[in-house]
Amino acid sequence: MHPLEQLRDDALREIEAAPEGQALEAARVKYLGKTGSISLWGEQMKTLAKEEKPVVGKLLNEVRNAVTAAIETRSERFRAEKESGALAKIDISLPGTPPEIGALHPLTQMWERSIEIFWRMGFALADGPDIEDEWHCFDALNTPPEHPARNEQDTFYLPDGRLLRTHTSTVQIRTMQAAPPPIRVIAPGAAYRRDELDATHSPQFHQIEGLYVDENVSVADLKGALEFFMRELFGSGTEVQFRPHFFPFTEPSLEVYVKSKALKGGERWIEVAGSGVVHPQVFEQVNKARGDKIYDPEKWSGYAFGLGMDRLAMILFDIPDIRLFGQNDLRFLRQFA
Ligand code: PHE
Repeated sequence: MHPLEQLRDDALREIEAAPEGQALEAARVKYLGKTGSISLWGEQMKTLAKEEKPVVGKLLNEVRNAVTAAIETRSERFRAEKESGALAKIDISLPGTPPEIGALHPLTQMWERSIEIFWRMGFALADGPDIEDEWHCFDALNTPPEHPARNEQDTFYLPDGRLLRTHTSTVQIRTMQAAPPPIRVIAPGAAYRRDELDATHSPQFHQIEGLYVDENVSVADLKGALEFFMRELFGSGTEVQFRPHFFPFTEPSLEVYVKSKALKGGERWIEVAGSGVVHPQVFEQVNKARGDKIYDPEKWSGYAFGLGMDRLAMILFDIPDIRLFGQNDLRFLRQFA
């Protein structure tokens, strides 16, 4: 046996016997390292006789390859054992932790449904600030200083005289200030009043304001639009009733009631919106603020409405108490996921 073959057998035995990575690395250094036995053989090659060189050279290559491959294999085996050892500690039969999947708040769902219906009717979205000045909230809407809505008992005033808007009708004014007629917008948002919190009242509530200004707009257009909206929302069998009312900024003014089979606890008429034909004084106030005459009440007419979103959501989802919307109780919220 050539001494190189002996060397190879010793190396392979040692590699096979290495119990773990460190012992294997020691064996690698011993045979293949810079001063390892196999490397030293390589250096001795130049001392060999010319005719010996090819034979020994070939053998040396074979030995080096065999030892290198053996180390590879053994080290691969260590790696695999380590991995399966780690996996063995995991009990794959245990139930997993499902991720919590969020859902939209019922009021948000209500808003999205409503906006989608108005969007199909051609209404664009408009917006305005929750903190308003008295002019946008009252004066521009033909609401005189002695009107009860302006009373400090009914409204949240800031020290600087501004207030939390008591309705989204402020956006009617802001929209007309910003753009000439025709106008067809809805404005979803919060409104605030100094109400005691109970099952049906909340100091913060939510509305969708609507404003449509064009030539020859009539009460019939208003009724048609709101009837369509209610039937899309509550079903085609929904009855809608308009009752005469008073708002300073509309004339005539109408309260909107729905009676729906979707209502639990028997059919009932429920008030869901205020509405009416835009008062000429509102156009005049807008003109004054704009400094032009573009909202000419002789030429343009319009209708407006304010839908109570909390009310509508309570009816649609059969929610008995308005306070549930703000309590963040997951037992409540999960029902709408
Ligand atoms: N702003 C009124 C309210 O909050 C509702 C309304 C809007 C009435 C538009 C007429 C026109 O009660």
